Amino acid sequence: MKLLGKIAIITGATSGMGKAIAERFVHEGASVILSGRDEQRGKELESNLGKNGGNAFFISGDVSLESTNRKLVEEAIGKYGKLDIVVTNAGKLGLGSVTDISLDEWDETIKTNLYSVFYLSRFAIPEMQKAGKGVILVTSSIAAFKSFPNHAAYCASKASLIALVKEMALDYGPAIRVNAICPGPVDTPLIWDSAKAFENPETIVQQTASNTLMKRLGKPEDIASLALFLVSEEASWITGSAYTIDGGILTK
Ligand SMILES: NC(=O)c1ccc[n+]([C@@H]2O[C@H](COP(=O)([O-])OP(=O)(O)OC[C@H]3O[C@@H](n4cnc5c(N)ncnc54)[C@H](O)[C@@H]3O)[C@@H](O)[C@H]2O)c1
Repeated sequence: MKLLGKIAIITGATSGMGKAIAERFVHEGASVILSGRDEQRGKELESNLGKNGGNAFFISGDVSLESTNRKLVEEAIGKYGKLDIVVTNAGKLGLGSVTDISLDEWDETIKTNLYSVFYLSRFAIPEMQKAGKGVILVTSSIAAFKSFPNHAAYCASKASLIALVKEMALDYGPAIRVNAICPGPVDTPLIWDSAKAFENPETIVQQTASNTLMKRLGKPEDIASLALFLVSEEASWITGSAYTIDGGILTK
């Protein structure tokens, strides 16, 4: 068990990659605070993870708000007395080009993807500093490196996250490690929403899968494997890095 006794917060934990990461972390012995917006899905996941002796606790809230992130850290400390790992995984697409996107959609996307990481890190880091150690893992995207049509706010926010990760690694190392993962196309609800920016969503997703060198979409479990490695002791010399995990699609 690679995370035995560890306390982790995971945002966007009720679906897609966040759910797979939560399941893997609990399987590896961590107690996990599940952050999400969907009360029913959150409670179901909490109960499923609690079977077979796992420990998970759902807290609902919008991560674009400072108050939600404060609450997540307060609950972790109140319930478990410490916080070892934070995975800031929640994300929003915010489709539209610079001239098309509404100001509200732009703001909401930047707040969900970027401010949420700033807020959660801001509350988590002092607790990690008290313990003299901690790990922050941020979900960015290959959209940080490669442009996608009509994804202006998404690309901008995901690229900003990489700069923020490197800056936080510098400010808070060696006690706290901070890294990013940059997934390519992974089979979650989000990729199907992303495909709506194109004329034939179904065809685009199929083409994207065959465009990878591995000839398939990623599975949420593929991402969970990398997340587990990066938060574990096995990655103790890794900080300030951004890892692409994309079936090789960025080679093209
Ligand atoms: N699926 C992909 O192809 C892909 C590729 C690269 C990066 N990503 C990133 O991976 C992360 C996880 O996405 P996913 O693919 O698993 O999709 P998903 O839609 O299954 O998960 C995203 C989660 O974020 C939550 N969320 C969104 N806005 C929120 C808010 N304001 N407050 C609280 N929760 C909020 C959603 O409810 C959802 O549970 C996202 O950051 C996404 O940008 C996804």
